[in-house]
Amino acid sequence: MSLHTETPLRPAATGIAFRVLALVGRNEVQQERGLASAPNRLFAGLFRTATRGRYTGRWPLGTLGREQGARGAPMNVFLAGATGAIGRPLVSLLRDASHCVIGTSRSAAGKATLEGLGIQGMVVDVFDRETLEHAVLEAKPDVIIHQLTDLSGGTDPQSLERNARLRREGTANLTHAARAGRVKRLIAQSIAWAYAPKELPYYESDPLDEEADGLRGISVRDGVVPLERSVLRQAEVEGVVLRYGQLYGPGAWSANPTGSSPVHVEAAAYAAFLALDRGAPGAYNIAEPGGAVAITKAVERLGWSADFRLQRKE
Ligand SMILES: NC(=O)c1ccc[n+]([C@@H]2O[C@H](COP(=O)([O-])OP(=O)(O)OC[C@H]3O[C@@H](n4cnc5c(N)ncnc54)[C@H](OP(=O)(O)O)[C@@H]3O)[C@@H](O)[C@H]2O)c1
Repeated sequence: MSLHTETPLRPAATGIAFRVLALVGRNEVQQERGLASAPNRLFAGLFRTATRGRYTGRWPLGTLGREQGARGAPMNVFLAGATGAIGRPLVSLLRDASHCVIGTSRSAAGKATLEGLGIQGMVVDVFDRETLEHAVLEAKPDVIIHQLTDLSGGTDPQSLERNARLRREGTANLTHAARAGRVKRLIAQSIAWAYAPKELPYYESDPLDEEADGLRGISVRDGVVPLERSVLRQAEVEGVVLRYGQLYGPGAWSANPTGSSPVHVEAAAYAAFLALDRGAPGAYNIAEPGGAVAITKAVERLGWSADFRLQRKE
């Protein structure tokens, strides 16, 4: 697995150079979508000629610009599960930070909802490996974010089986598409209550409950464990797993904090937003402080806060 360290300081000249390159990069992305204005197209054309086509408009976003992304420079983001409880606030965050977002839904109605939110919508079922790969190759994302779950039917055994299959096969298909599309980073939703029992709190380095049986076995052994392996145990794409506590807030089952490690859906979305370019690959617990899981890693390495909420316009 490729690990990276975050660079604390950068000379001013590099910063200026990065801003120019990021501007051109954004131009390139806009051009691919037919959104760039004529002067912008001319500027990008001159830049390409001057650099003899060596600059594609993509690489500084993932290398020189590592400290940007969530903090300013636009990225191409493929958001699987954009209509969901975390997906929707994440759409707002990404859109308001000027990222180019392609959001997925299984339905035309979901696609229309996403377009109403001001991003590009795409109808994709992640079990359809070929269509998914084609969608990713077409979107050319820098980062894929996976916010897929299938629990709208509840937590009866059939729903848990369906959700485990989504985590297992859907994630494998997304990882495959990410590799095919040479995506830099894949950020995936997991859960914070899959640890094997031990004294609290649970740290990210603690083992998952792979021996679980019954309903917990369906969820953890058949779903969470293969999801995390698929994302973390491969070398080509940086894998980040966000282990969310029990969600509450708009779109979630509960309006108020619930369970041993609650987290608000907007704070959950914020963690994925920050992970675009912060933090080394690996797993991060995302929950409110004082619960069953330790969250120091997310606070220190992603700069995450459980208090984050979207600013509402009056
Ligand atoms: N950590 C937690 O506490 C936790 C975790 C998961 C769920 N939940 C609870 O469960 C509630 C309902 O769950 P939900 O599963 O409906 O979650 P959700 O977060 O509301 O939505 C799930 C997302 O996954 C997408 N999706 C599902 N199957 C897909 C597939 N095969 N291909 C492509 N996209 C697919 C859905 O898209 P479309 O429907 O638009 O096609 C939707 O965007 C949540 O609101 C939450 O309260 C809690």
